[in-house]
Parts: sequence; structure tokens; C-alpha cells
Amino acid sequence: MAFTRLAGIIAIALASSHSAYAATTGAKPVTCSTGQVTANAACCALFPVVSLMQSQLFDNGECGEGAHSALRLSFHDAIGFSIHGGKGGGADGSILQFGDVETQFHANGGIDEIVDDQTPVWQQTNLTAGDFLHLAAAVGTANCPGAPRLQFMLGRPAPVAPAPDLTIPEPTDSVTSILARFADAGFSPREAVALLTSHTIAAADVVDPAIPRTPFDSTSATFDSQIFLEVLLKGRLFPGPNNSSQPGEVLSPLAGEMRLQSDFVISQDSRTACFWQQMINNQQLMISQFKAAMAKLQLLGQNTAHLIDCSDVVPIPRSFTQAIKYPASFSQADVQIACPQLPFPSLATVAGPAPTVAPV
Ligand code: HEM
Ligand SMILES: *[C@@H]1O[C@H](CO)[C@@H](O)[C@H](O)[C@H]1NC(C)=O
Ligand SMILES: *[C@@H]1O[C@H](CO)[C@@H](O)[C@H](O)[C@H]1NC(C)=O
Ligand SMILES: *[C@@H]1O[C@H](CO)[C@@H](O)[C@H](O)[C@H]1NC(C)=O
Repeated sequence: MAFTRLAGIIAIALASSHSAYAATTGAKPVTCSTGQVTANAACCALFPVVSLMQSQLFDNGECGEGAHSALRLSFHDAIGFSIHGGKGGGADGSILQFGDVETQFHANGGIDEIVDDQTPVWQQTNLTAGDFLHLAAAVGTANCPGAPRLQFMLGRPAPVAPAPDLTIPEPTDSVTSILARFADAGFSPREAVALLTSHTIAAADVVDPAIPRTPFDSTSATFDSQIFLEVLLKGRLFPGPNNSSQPGEVLSPLAGEMRLQSDFVISQDSRTACFWQQMINNQQLMISQFKAAMAKLQLLGQNTAHLIDCSDVVPIPRSFTQAIKYPASFSQADVQIACPQLPFPSLATVAGPAPTVAPV
């Protein structure tokens, strides 16, 4: 975390010193009428939008359902794209503007809720759907301790059409088909794993509709690497009172926790297992890789020459500096190691009996 803190100090130093700032970026910082400082006057209009998002979408700055679903929405919007053409406009906000079409897609189960929540807030702003939705993802993610401060670029044009169906991976898909879809959108297997860091702040509503808000790891309000560890632990049961499973779900290690089949098979596949394992207890690597992959995702299909860097309107997330631990009663003996060529990190275990993860 030393690096994150240092970067924060540098950012503050740059923002408070005109000459240092200009020397580094060649641009003159602007003090907005609202008092905040930003690199470009065009970004000033975003500070009130950030406040609006915090109050109307994210319960005044929480890492809760609104924040989690804003991040999921940015993926489901942007991935409707192919580097070979013939799919959608990428990170264009089409899922918000043409929500009546895209929320019907099978992979978009539950997305109607966040589209319905974001639409009236979006309409109070002058932003295009793409700018609004991808700023919301950056702001929502920033509410989660440990998260990177995501980049935000302003100036996406309005989307011209809905994305076609069948561009979004499903938890029942094979690793080969998931990696092929990511490759078609321009992402390597490592970038796909980096993007799956998002499941550290995630829960499922529709995989098993009988048990909504079932989290994927035991710390779904913290942007830590616990997801990468817990997906590797031997599966024992299914969440919910009936110990019953749904398509796309496999045995999880903890009562009340859901493990997606897709996360599990990616954690075990030789194309992705080592990078998956390297994320464990490696907060720096995890957030730097996630930030880079998100920057790419949130600009798919966009002409970057026409965009303005407004990343400095995104709140600075609180840091997460602790070592992660095995959930109580677990140890390395429970890990299904799929990358024997690398050492497995040595981790302590939380004291006490095995936990039951509560719905979020
Ligand atoms: C292999 C690719 C992926 C698959 C198969 C997948 C699948 C899923 C599924 C089934 C859910 C639960 C939906 C529900 O029942 O409510 C979910 C939740 C979520 N996903 Fe993914 N996902 C993938 C990649 C991603 C990526 C790349 C991101 C973001 C960059 C992302 C962000 C999220 C978030 C934040 C949630 C939680 C939403 C909430 O708690 O409201 N996912 N994902
Ligand atoms: C939207 O743009 C109009 C016209 O430029 C302006 O009058 C209005 O204040 C803007 N609204 C917001 C919320 O920025
Ligand atoms: C558990 O099973 C019973 C009987 O099949 C069913 O009525 C109930 O809805 C199930 N509950 C959950 C949460 O899956
Ligand atoms: C739940 O089901 C799994 C497999 O379907 C079984 O191995 C396990 O013992 C069951 N656990 C409980 C607590 O019933």
C-alpha cells in the first residue's frame, strides 16, 4: 500500500501546486466554481454529478448493492463489442439508453433493477448514457475500501443502437468459450482474470432467485483478494436452506456463499490458474491489473482522441492494507492448487468456527 499512498500524496501535491502540475502534464489546473480542482475545465461539470450519484445511487458513499451493480453494468455495457466489428458500440451506454432491449438478454438477469435506478439520475444530468454509466462504475467502485481509483474519460457520443445478444459470458460457459469471447473483445486471458477481480464485491440475485444477495466471497464490501482464495477452497455445500444448486453454480466452501462455475473453472484452467493464484494476498498486483483492464474495458469502441481525462473527479478510495486470511477452520490443506509451479502464499487463519456468510 506504500505505493498507493505515495501516488495519493503525489496527486495532492500536483493538484496544490500549479507550477509542478504544469511541468508534469503541460496543462493548467482549473479551480471549479464548486471549489474543486481538476486538470480540465470541462471536468468541472462532473463534480455535482458525482455528488448526485453518491446520494441517489450509492447511499452516500457506500460499497453496497448500488455500487456493485454499477460495476457489473459497466461490464455488460462495454463487452457488447468485437475488435472484428459486427457487434455493438462497446462502452457506449447502450445498455442504459436501450435498456428495454438489452435487459431482455438472458445474461442480463437482474440488470433491469440498476437500469431502472440509474435512468432517472442520468436524466438529471447532461451526460451521454456512456459517460454517465462508466462514471457511475468508477464512483461506485471507489466506495469500496481497497479499490483502485479507476480512470474516467469524458466525451463518449450517444449510443446509436442496442448491442446484439450473446456477447456477455454466462457462468455455465466453458473456459474456452469465455476466453474466446474476451479475446474477440480484445482481452487476453490475464486481462480476463484481472477483470474478474470485480467479483470481490459481488453477490447474485438471479442465479438462485430463492436466495437473493448471496455473496461470492466472505468480504463483499471490501475490494480485497479474498475472492481469489475462497474460489480455490474445496467445495462442500450450496448456499440456502435446501443445499440445492442451480445452473452456473458449483459447491462453495462456506455456508451462505455462492461459487460461480465460471470463476471456479477459470481458477483451475492451465491458461489462467497461475495468474489467478498470483492475485492472492497481492493487493498491489490485483488493483493495478484490474485498473488497467478496466481502463481498456470502459473505452471499448470509443475514439480516445475525442475524450478528456477527468479521472481526478473520481473519489480516492480508502486503502486496504491487511494481509488476507483463510476463513476460520480453513488452511492450505483445503486449497485446490492449480498452479503447482508457483509457491502458494502463506496465510494465517481467522480464529473460531467456520463462518456462515450473510446475504448482503
Ligand atoms: C466470465 C465472465 C463473467 C461471468 C460469467 C459473470 C457472471 C456473473 C453472475 C452470474 C453474477 C450474478 C448475477 C446475479 O445473479 O445477480 C455476477 C455478478 C457480478 N459481476 Fe460478473 N461475471 C463475469 C465477469 C464480470 C466482470 C468482467 C465484471 C466487471 C468488470 C463483473 C462484475 C460483477 C459484479 C460487480 C457483480 C455483482 C453485482 C451485484 O452484487 O449486484 N463480472 N457476475
Ligand atoms: C445542462 O445544460 C444546460 C444547457 O447548456 C444548462 O443550462 C444546465 O444547467 C445543464 N444542467 C446540468 C445539470 O448540468
Ligand atoms: C426449499 O425447498 C422447498 C421444497 O422443495 C421449497 O418450497 C423452497 O422454496 C426451497 N427454498 C429455497 C430457499 O430454495
Ligand atoms: C450438500 O450437498 C453436497 C453435494 O450435493 C453434499 O456433498 C454435502 O454433504 C451436503 N451438505 C449438507 C450440509 O447437507
